[in-house]
Amino acid sequence: AVPPATPQYRPAYHFAPAAHWMNDPNGMVYLNGTYHLYFQYYPDGMVWGPMHWGHATSRDLVRWQEQPIALYPDSLGWIFSGSAVIDANNTAGFGKNAMVAIFTHHNDPEEKKHTNKHQYQSLAYSLDEGKTWTKYAGNPVLPNPGIQDFRDPKVSWHEASRQWVMTLATKDRITFYGSPNLKNWTKLSEFGEKVGAHGGVWECPDLFPLQLKGQTYWVLIVNLNPGAPNGGSGTQYFVGQFDGKTFTPRSTDTKWADYGPDDYAGVTWNNTPGRRIFLGWMSNWTYANQVPTSPWRNALTIPRELGLRQVGTDIRLTSEPVKELQQLAAAPTVLRNVAGQQTPTDLTSRLQMSSDKHRLTLSTEQLTDFELVLSNAAGEELVLGYNAGARAYFIDRSKAGQTDFNKEFASRSTAPRLTSAPGTALTLYFDAASVELFADEGLTVMTAIFFPTQPLTRVHLRSKPGITFQEISSADLVVKPVK
Ligand code: FRU
Repeated sequence: AVPPATPQYRPAYHFAPAAHWMNDPNGMVYLNGTYHLYFQYYPDGMVWGPMHWGHATSRDLVRWQEQPIALYPDSLGWIFSGSAVIDANNTAGFGKNAMVAIFTHHNDPEEKKHTNKHQYQSLAYSLDEGKTWTKYAGNPVLPNPGIQDFRDPKVSWHEASRQWVMTLATKDRITFYGSPNLKNWTKLSEFGEKVGAHGGVWECPDLFPLQLKGQTYWVLIVNLNPGAPNGGSGTQYFVGQFDGKTFTPRSTDTKWADYGPDDYAGVTWNNTPGRRIFLGWMSNWTYANQVPTSPWRNALTIPRELGLRQVGTDIRLTSEPVKELQQLAAAPTVLRNVAGQQTPTDLTSRLQMSSDKHRLTLSTEQLTDFELVLSNAAGEELVLGYNAGARAYFIDRSKAGQTDFNKEFASRSTAPRLTSAPGTALTLYFDAASVELFADEGLTVMTAIFFPTQPLTRVHLRSKPGITFQEISSADLVVKPVK
């Protein structure tokens, strides 16, 4: 039975299917003005089950339209995560500019006898810009050599070596494959067995170049579950070089693309020259099957533009909300020079926040301890802020509403501050049941979901004397229908 509907938790500018279960974003590719977003989908239930690829499209990364299901399970298995490319030169022979999906077929080990070879890579192609799909008759194109976890191919064209490169999650490492035509794959190299975080299985990788001061670096994204900094599933990354065969990291310490509990399986869009846009699944495998929403379960994060920044001798990834989101913001209410006080300052009436879909920004020239408390008349509160002693941002959702659906959910998450600049600006995007925090121009990011029984529209600030916010501003986020 489907639980009673929860329209109060339905996001306005995040993608969530109208109904049923979703997990990872898949097959993200841009073509002729449209951002395509496929996703792990189970259209017959509200918990994880036989996987399909659902489909949604957007022309502005803000307003999403759900489309008919793109890929259904078949005799080779369920359709697990993967990517999509535009085959401009018809290397595969499906047609010029064919959209080609490269995905994992998963032959459910509970139905068939478990062989360790139940995951392998297959193709499907679309000649009508991603609407209808044909599975390739020669599937699978990359059989399993006998590795239990062998999945989530992310493919892109590597211009320097004139080949398609597949980045594949193979249990505790990444295996790179190369192909001239998407159909025949040769192993290039392996990476990661002894570096990075290994608290769980490696999944959903991505490999792409980014520029910093005229230099090209390659970023390797590796999702893993469990083993994230605040528990459960999370996204780590490495910065280095890729020469068409081997990935060589600059450093092997563990870095996280998002420290919050609810950004997983994130990868980037293919075919967006000049920009690198990332988005993740806004949930965590620890409780994804139990979150109290209906008739859908789980949503995606906002799209984020990735960049690189030098911090000391390190090069780090930065993530910032895509600029298209700015079109949502109504005229902001701005408070200037709000000084710190030991007792909480009630900003509710001054900020004029009229809904639970809004953007809050705070900036200070001297960052020290503060807490921003969002609450409601039921006494529920979400607390976010900075702890100078620990040099950490935090999000505490332990009293923010419903938590008893899973014993791990009532948590306080922390994230290191990665710069020693005296001041900072913080941006918070709220959308009914989620918050995404961007600090220090995208160096530290946290995403968390929460389920209050009434909207959290009261705002209090508690901070140390000595901290002055140059500006605190609040803007309602208003989504206008697609024309
Ligand atoms: C990550 C993941 C992938 C897999 C998919 C199955 O969340 O486990 O590794 O392809 O979900 O739905």
